[in-house]
Amino acid sequence: MHSRFLSRGVKALLAVAFVSGFALAAQATLNFTNTVTGQPLDLSDAPAEGRDTEAVKKFLATGVNVYVENPTCLPKGKDLFLSMCSGCHGHYGEGKIGPGLNDSYWTYPKNMTDQGLFETIFGGAQGQMGPMYGALNLDEMLLVMAWVRHFYKDDPNDAVWLTPAQRAAFKRFNEKEDQTPDLDKAPVCKATAASAAGSK
Ligand code: HEC
Repeated sequence: MHSRFLSRGVKALLAVAFVSGFALAAQATLNFTNTVTGQPLDLSDAPAEGRDTEAVKKFLATGVNVYVENPTCLPKGKDLFLSMCSGCHGHYGEGKIGPGLNDSYWTYPKNMTDQGLFETIFGGAQGQMGPMYGALNLDEMLLVMAWVRHFYKDDPNDAVWLTPAQRAAFKRFNEKEDQTPDLDKAPVCKATAASAAGSK
């Protein structure tokens, strides 16, 4: 009788621990998986630097990238894209030995979401598309992603990665009108409360 009571108490405790532990884990970070294999990504492979910026914390918990359409952060994203991606994907993501990234066609449809795009950049895909966690830190990946979203040239209505407000304001990218300042003339990149509120 006594032991039965105890075990019931222990079970209840375990249930509480399990439920709250689960909720905590879910709040701390989404589950990120490799684009090709579906295996979980180990985010601790990323460099320590850039791992706990406000933008990264928000992204890992929600999948929302506060740098998207944030004009103060696009110059840095562009700069990183030009050094890390354009050799294979083209200057403005028009495609080269890697596929175009500036239109609404995706080999891997999950790249339509920022979580999916992050997973492809972090963990790589096939062939030449290697994992980027050795070359970019998490914050830099979010900055590159914002630039990839910005040079989109197709119908904004297909840009499901944008919030409705961003979609309404979005202008198809035209490289001839690209006014993105060089990094040395760029404002300080700030993930403002306004930009965070603007994204979902
Ligand atoms: C060495 C060449 C190379 C570099 C550098 C490279 N990529 Fe790729 N990328 C590729 C190739 C090739 C593919 C096609 C892989 C596949 O289909 O599995 C690809 C695929 C992708 C895809 C999937 C596109 C789709 O249609 O689903 C994304 C997104 C992507 N790359 C983003 C990037 C970004 C962002 C960078 C820079 C941080 C980058 N890549 C750097 C070669 C490269």
